[in-house]
Amino acid sequence: MSLKMHIPFARMLLALIFTLSCLSVQIEAQLQVGFYRQSCPSAERIVREEVRKAFFRDRGIAPGLVRMHFHDCFVRGCDASILIDSTPSNKAEKESPANKPSLRGFEVIDNAKTRLEAQCNGVVSCADILAFAARDSVALTLGPTYTVPAGRRDGRVSLVSEVLQNVPGFTFNVSQLTQSFANKQMTQEEMVTLSGAHTIGRSHCTSITNRLYNFNGTRGPDPTLDSRYARQLQRQCPQGSTDSSLVIPMDPRSPFITDRNYYQDVLANRGLLTSDQTLLIDSNTANQVAQNARSPFLWMRKFPAAMVKMGRINVLTGTDGEIRKNCRVIN
Ligand code: HEM
Ligand SMILES: *[C@@H]1O[C@H](CO)[C@@H](O)[C@H](O)[C@H]1NC(C)=O
Ligand SMILES: *[C@@H]1O[C@H](CO)[C@@H](O)[C@H](O)[C@H]1NC(C)=O
Repeated sequence: MSLKMHIPFARMLLALIFTLSCLSVQIEAQLQVGFYRQSCPSAERIVREEVRKAFFRDRGIAPGLVRMHFHDCFVRGCDASILIDSTPSNKAEKESPANKPSLRGFEVIDNAKTRLEAQCNGVVSCADILAFAARDSVALTLGPTYTVPAGRRDGRVSLVSEVLQNVPGFTFNVSQLTQSFANKQMTQEEMVTLSGAHTIGRSHCTSITNRLYNFNGTRGPDPTLDSRYARQLQRQCPQGSTDSSLVIPMDPRSPFITDRNYYQDVLANRGLLTSDQTLLIDSNTANQVAQNARSPFLWMRKFPAAMVKMGRINVLTGTDGEIRKNCRVIN
C-alpha cells in the first residue's frame, strides 16, 4: 500500500476515536479537562498562583483545601455548597462541628474568585476553583500531579443538617466507612486510597481524646493504639483540656509532604483517628494498607484517580445550578 492511501484512513480512524471519546466523556459526567481553555484560559494558572501564595505563608492551607474539597463533594456533590455563608434564615454547612472550627482555606478560594471575576466575569465556578485548588495543594506538598476535569456548576443550597448525615465520622469503623463511601458510589478500595490524604495536615485534640482517656470505659487508651504513641499523644492533648486550639499532626514524620507514610503509620498502630486505625480490622483494607505502605509508587498512582472520581460526585453541569459571583453567597 502506498502512503497516500494510509493518510485518509488514519484521519478517519482518528475522527472515530475522537467522537467515541467525546461520547464517553458526556455519558460519564460531562466534565472535561481544559474546560476553560477558550472561555478563561488563565483560570487554572490564577488558582495555582493564589494557592501557592497562601501556601508559602501557611503550609496548613494545603491540607485545608484538600479536606475542603472532600467535604464539599460528600454533601450535595461537588457544588461548592461548603463555601456558602450562613444567612439569618439559613445555617450553612460550614457551621457543622465537622467543619467548624477545623476547615481552613476559605480566603484562598475568595482571592482566586475575585481575580477570576475581574478577568472573566461569571465564567469559572467556585466548585471548579476548589477542585483545582485541592489538586494544586497535593502538588505543593510534593504529591502526584494530575489533570482535573472541570465544568462543575455551583449549587444554591447549603444546609448544616446535611453534613453529619453525609461526611463520615472519626469514630466510624471500617464497615461504616465503606458504607459512607458506597453511598457516594465510591468503592472500599477508593475509601482506603483517599484516607491516605491524612498523610498531611492536623487534627484537633477533640477528634482523638476519645481514644486517649477512658476508652470504651477501660480507663485507659484505645488498646489498638501503640502504647508509646498513646503516651505521647496524652502529653500533647491533656485530659479535660478545653483549649479548642490544641492540634496535632496527622502524620508527624512529614506533616506537609503527600507521601505513603500514612499507611506505614496505620500499620504500626499509629493511625491517629479511630477511622484510620480501623482499616486494619478488615482483611481487604488491611492488605491494601500493607501494600500501600510497602510500595513507593502504588498509592501515588491510585490517589489522583480516586481524587478525580471523588470530584465527579453528583456534579451540576450544563445549565444546572449557577456560576456564583461570590463563592460565599448564592446569586
Ligand atoms: C474516611 C473517612 C474520613 C474521616 C472520618 C476523616 C476525618 C478527619 C478528621 C476528624 C480530621 C481532623 C480535623 C481537625 O480536627 O482539624 C481530618 C483531617 C483531614 N482530612 Fe480527613 N477524614 C476522612 C477522609 C478524608 C478524605 C477522603 C480526605 C481527602 C481526600 C481527607 C483529608 C483530610 C485532610 C487533608 C485533613 C487535614 C486537615 C487540615 O490540616 O486542616 N480526609 N479528617
Ligand atoms: C461497626 O459499627 C456498626 C454500628 O455500631 C456495627 O453494627 C458493626 O458491626 C461494626 N462493624 C465492625 C466491623 O466492627
Ligand atoms: C467496648 O466494651 C464492650 C464491653 O466491655 C465490649 O463488648 C466491646 O467489644 C468494646 N468495644 C471496643 C471497640 O473495644
